[in-house]
Amino acid sequence: MENKIIFALDIYDHDEAINLAKNLGDKVFAIKVNWPIILENGIKIIRELSKYSKIICDFKLADIDNTDKLITEKVNEYNAWGIIAHAFTGYKSLKAVVDSAKNTKVFSVVSMSQESYVDDITDKLIETSKKAGVYGLVAPANRPLYLKKVKELSGNLKIISPGAGSQGGDILNALLLGSDYVIIGRSIYNSDNPEKTLSDFNNSIRNSFNI
Ligand code: XMP
Repeated sequence: MENKIIFALDIYDHDEAINLAKNLGDKVFAIKVNWPIILENGIKIIRELSKYSKIICDFKLADIDNTDKLITEKVNEYNAWGIIAHAFTGYKSLKAVVDSAKNTKVFSVVSMSQESYVDDITDKLIETSKKAGVYGLVAPANRPLYLKKVKELSGNLKIISPGAGSQGGDILNALLLGSDYVIIGRSIYNSDNPEKTLSDFNNSIRNSFNI
């Protein structure tokens, strides 16, 4: 069965991160890294972690096209499977990410797990994302109305959803509403037994969806 959880590895410590990746990497769809782990350990950690799972770089690119391109090329060089970019910077920037990503999958943020100005332009962001040729969209697990809206407009793009667990959303509900994969960080790495917590999540997904 396909794993439905993307593990958000938002910790600083190198050895702890590698250990978590070793133990959980084959039981998640991917591991998502964000600035905290990169700022502490440097970009090389992406390659190290990629031994254990697909790695999605949640760098939320939001710059001019050339800078976004330079960052995407670097991420690509270090063996990332995916990268997350903002869509609000517009077509030119997002297209630069898609064009420089090569085989790396590009996900664009079209709705956030916290209220933001992006809420007013979600439709436009989805339209721009489709035009730029992204692989998938980021939409919130903890805001069902926004997730539903994104699902309705997403066509065949994949949807990945943060906001479950610590931010209040429900994993099963998000999958029912159309998320392909749910992103979970603190609820796993802050638990007493991350392996068991993940295994409980996976079992409840399997039991509910017969997969
Ligand atoms: P927790 O610990 O809350 O981690 O389970 C969630 C992870 O997802 C990121 N995050 C977002 N990423 N759009 C995104 O692209 C969002 O709306 C959003 N909300 C949370 C967060 O940085 C953490 O890595």
